[in-house]
Amino acid sequence: MLNKQMIVQTLLKERSFTPMVVKAKAFAPSNIALCKYWGKRDETLNLPITGSLSISLGNLGATTTVVPINEASDCIIFNGKVMDKSMPFVQKISNFLDLFRMDQNQNMHYQVETSLNIPMGAGVASSACGFAALVSALDSLYDWQLKPFELSILARLGSGSAARSFWHGFVEWECGIALDGMDSYAKPFPHDWKALRLGLLLIDSNEKSISSRVAMQRTLATSPFFDAWPKTQHEDMILLKKSIEDKDFITFAQTAETNALTLHALMMSARPQIVYSKPETLNMMDKIWQARREGLNVFFTQDAGPNLKLLFLEEDIDAVSRIFPLLKVIAPFNLLDQEC
Ligand code: DP6
Repeated sequence: MLNKQMIVQTLLKERSFTPMVVKAKAFAPSNIALCKYWGKRDETLNLPITGSLSISLGNLGATTTVVPINEASDCIIFNGKVMDKSMPFVQKISNFLDLFRMDQNQNMHYQVETSLNIPMGAGVASSACGFAALVSALDSLYDWQLKPFELSILARLGSGSAARSFWHGFVEWECGIALDGMDSYAKPFPHDWKALRLGLLLIDSNEKSISSRVAMQRTLATSPFFDAWPKTQHEDMILLKKSIEDKDFITFAQTAETNALTLHALMMSARPQIVYSKPETLNMMDKIWQARREGLNVFFTQDAGPNLKLLFLEEDIDAVSRIFPLLKVIAPFNLLDQEC
């Protein structure tokens, strides 16, 4: 059976493990899926059953600095605080770094300092941009000069959605068919949409009750409807890509919303059920649908949590903000205008 270490060794064979600088820094944007990744054909390598499509959040994401240290273990600093080694999050990063400890540098440990400029608790997953920034920082530290698709494969080994956090704008991750996943990486879907806006609607900032990893496994193993998911995904992917090309906002946003609702219906049909929505999530959906009935083009998507991400156009910012005054508005294609 293939394991992560084999993939890393294949990608890094003949690469040097001598640090070329004392410290290396990289940024990776956070991303939100419009056509979701849910269900793995390989649990170990995070190989998806279907393709997915995301939008990156511009300048919002993770900045990671990596420094080799002469210590017996890694030191993980998050938003300025040294994290306790017993935390699952720290262990996850150290396990990932283990993949990069080869014969030549098996005793090498790192100080990994990550800062997020996404407001904490905004309901945006940090692991995707975190793993992508870490892989980019390691690439700079050792001057491997890996190609973007190779970085995407490496980050996927940390967390599937991290494969998509190497680019701005729309990004497509192809599921691939190869057993080793060498054809399962993301690439840009190169279409700008300057007027597009995303709104982060915070409903609950508590830690999610069940991780995406476990929830995906359970949905795949127990939902009587899972067989229908790949077909829906395939159709939604075609609709989304075409609507992006045509700048057809209604089809685009309606498809993203339906894709998210289908995903949540699928999770609810798992046994036992997986329900990420809170009563407030449904209240907010109701407000969105009411606004739509009144003629405002606002839609949403939802990930593995209770928070909603709104989709609308620049011309409707005021109207949408009046209904949702606490909305954090993001202009994914106007990188310089982004407040952090
Ligand atoms: C709902 O990438 O967090 O956000 O590969 O197990 O780490 P692992 O899962 P993860 O799942 C993301 C799920 C999602 C949809 C998406 O981002 O496509």
